[in-house]
Amino acid sequence: MFKFTERVTDLPDAGIKSIMRYASQFKDTISLGQGMPLFPTPQFIFEELLERSMQDKRIGMYADGRPEIEKHLKKLIAAQMLDEYGFTPSPEELVLTVGGIGALFASFLALIEKNDEIIYFDPSYPLHLSQIHLTQAKPVFVPYREEGWAFDADKLASAITKKTKAILLTNPNNPTGTILSETDVRKLANIVVSNDLILILDEAYFSLTYDQPLFSPLLLPELRNRTILCRSFSKEFAMTGWRIGYAYATPELASKIFNVHTYFSVCPPTPSMIAATIALSDPRGKQATQEMVQKISESRTVICERLQNLPQLFSFQAPQGAFYIFPKFHGFEMSDTEFAKLLIRETGVITVGGSNMGPSGKGYLRMSFAGDASLIHKAFDRIDSFVIRAIRLK
Ligand SMILES: Cc1ncc(COP(=O)(O)O)c(C=O)c1O
Repeated sequence: MFKFTERVTDLPDAGIKSIMRYASQFKDTISLGQGMPLFPTPQFIFEELLERSMQDKRIGMYADGRPEIEKHLKKLIAAQMLDEYGFTPSPEELVLTVGGIGALFASFLALIEKNDEIIYFDPSYPLHLSQIHLTQAKPVFVPYREEGWAFDADKLASAITKKTKAILLTNPNNPTGTILSETDVRKLANIVVSNDLILILDEAYFSLTYDQPLFSPLLLPELRNRTILCRSFSKEFAMTGWRIGYAYATPELASKIFNVHTYFSVCPPTPSMIAATIALSDPRGKQATQEMVQKISESRTVICERLQNLPQLFSFQAPQGAFYIFPKFHGFEMSDTEFAKLLIRETGVITVGGSNMGPSGKGYLRMSFAGDASLIHKAFDRIDSFVIRAIRLK
């Protein structure tokens, strides 16, 4: 009856949402599915926000008439960026957004047109693919090497054409948990600069690294005016529900990103901007992140051990960052989504099929380990019994 727009026709299915929907018909499930810290937002953020809400009658109103809120948050973000990237962005280079996703979408809409080519490292975060689809641009899949999910500069260089507009990098990566080495970051920078491209850099998991800190492309001065950085409070402060993030770009680009973001959101939620201000200004914010990363790191050790004990079913590589592990499964002749569904039916454990993250994810499962180690043990006790049952049946 209705004729939909071209841009929503064949829109990639949000695989994570559909597996969560499938799982909702089963009782007593354990979710390693959706990517979010399973810890509450730090208590002090609620307490301080509550106190401020009592004094601020306008906290439930749009913030765009109150430049002091935006100014304060941008000042704190600038100080954080000095600490993390070695330079202080001006307020004109920052845009406050509805989550990292708002920063990404506004950036795509500001920069990318129909038929432009966008480099998508495969596998990566599937919502990027949906957003690229909505801009009617073409994602060009550049596979990571299966061995170590390492970056391959030659493959990237050979994928660049006259139509290439931007390179999209998620670092640390969702779903593989890999981070680019300094050598690879420098190779990437050479390709970006020599081809006069823009790097769209998604660092939603910036603080979530385990063995070594991130060497961000933004540490390289030559990339500063060629990068759109998209960051988020969701994962680093366990604030997924608050919907607050930001973009950094040149003033010219940032003003366009700001306009686009205004047209689909007016502004980020006022209470969330204040909550983000509290998270960044109180030393307990950094401490809460460190404690959460420590807990997630313990879960990472446990999930690696438990997977290692199931060599007949899984092979995997230990993630260096984010909170995902991406094992390959063996012995089941079915698609990854079918296998994820089988696991839900047989064990109640929710995972996500790897092909949702790009063609190279075929035959893999994404597991999120952003909760307590006890949850990982509980999930793998069930998977262990499933494996014993499956072997008996063979
Ligand atoms: C790589 C990556 N970027 C961005 C996001 C979006 O996060 P948010 O909009 O909550 O900041 C996610 C969420 O899972 C993600 O994994």
